[in-house]
Amino acid sequence: MKLHGRTVLVTGGSRGIGLELAGCLAARGARVAVCGRSEEAPSALAAFGRSVRYLRCDLADASQVRALPARVRRELGSPSVLVNNAGVQFNHEWAHTRPDDRARWAETELTVNLVAPALLTALLLDDLRAADPGVVVNVTSLLALAPKPSAPTYCASKAGLRSFTRALRWQLADDPSVRVVEAVPPLVDTAMAAGRGSKKMDPADVAHRIVAGLLADETEIRIGAARVVGGLARVAPAAVEALLKGG
Ligand SMILES: NC(=O)c1ccc[n+]([C@@H]2O[C@H](COP(=O)([O-])OP(=O)(O)OC[C@H]3O[C@@H](n4cnc5c(N)ncnc54)[C@H](OP(=O)(O)O)[C@@H]3O)[C@@H](O)[C@H]2O)c1
Repeated sequence: MKLHGRTVLVTGGSRGIGLELAGCLAARGARVAVCGRSEEAPSALAAFGRSVRYLRCDLADASQVRALPARVRRELGSPSVLVNNAGVQFNHEWAHTRPDDRARWAETELTVNLVAPALLTALLLDDLRAADPGVVVNVTSLLALAPKPSAPTYCASKAGLRSFTRALRWQLADDPSVRVVEAVPPLVDTAMAAGRGSKKMDPADVAHRIVAGLLADETEIRIGAARVVGGLARVAPAAVEALLKGG
């Protein structure tokens, strides 16, 4: 598919993978709406010029999520690509944190990482289909394949998003007007992965790979080490479970 002239909504474009995606998509001639929670547009977006527009939206607030599609249509036109990229992850030990904190973190992870993508897909599906072809890209994780102990609700949210993506793809298999795509990054050098692991992939490289996958009409865009681990999960799921459990 071509990206030139399309309107793309990228959730969570204030930094990390989303910010790099916004730049890559704008460089391909797309108009890009990005969202985040801060009142002011992040200064890094200024480098991309007027084709990237910042819309403040807290994805943990369902009323703000419901209002977002109309704002994108008004500012940049009907979107033909939705990239559900925004995500949060809280690593903590459930036995050693306060009940209120645990509950708040669990609710935020499930709402931002799973509920908001499903809501936005529901609200924008007709826009995407009218674009023929329209595309929804859900950014999951290797932790959608097998969980790690330190972030149970994050892993559940990503496994849920992967399941949602596959079921919707199967449901729409006979409809060529919309594609349902999963992008699976490895560990990436962003704020989310600060203090965790080594050999992290550069977010700019991740963004380029996602855009290349979109241009090549891939339905599952596995990135970097996710290619190998994703393949291994098919033939040796126990090995992948052990790997991610200890990661
Ligand atoms: N980093 C990794 O190793 C890794 C690996 C696999 C998958 N992923 C996935 O890749 C995606 C991007 O992650 P990243 O590494 O780029 O993370 P990041 O650098 O922490 O960026 C997260 C983005 O999500 C936005 N966001 C968070 N909560 C939000 C909310 N309530 N409302 C609106 N926007 C919100 C943030 O914006 P504000 O804070 O400005 O609101 C920010 O733009 C996520 O879905 C993540 O799960 C990341």
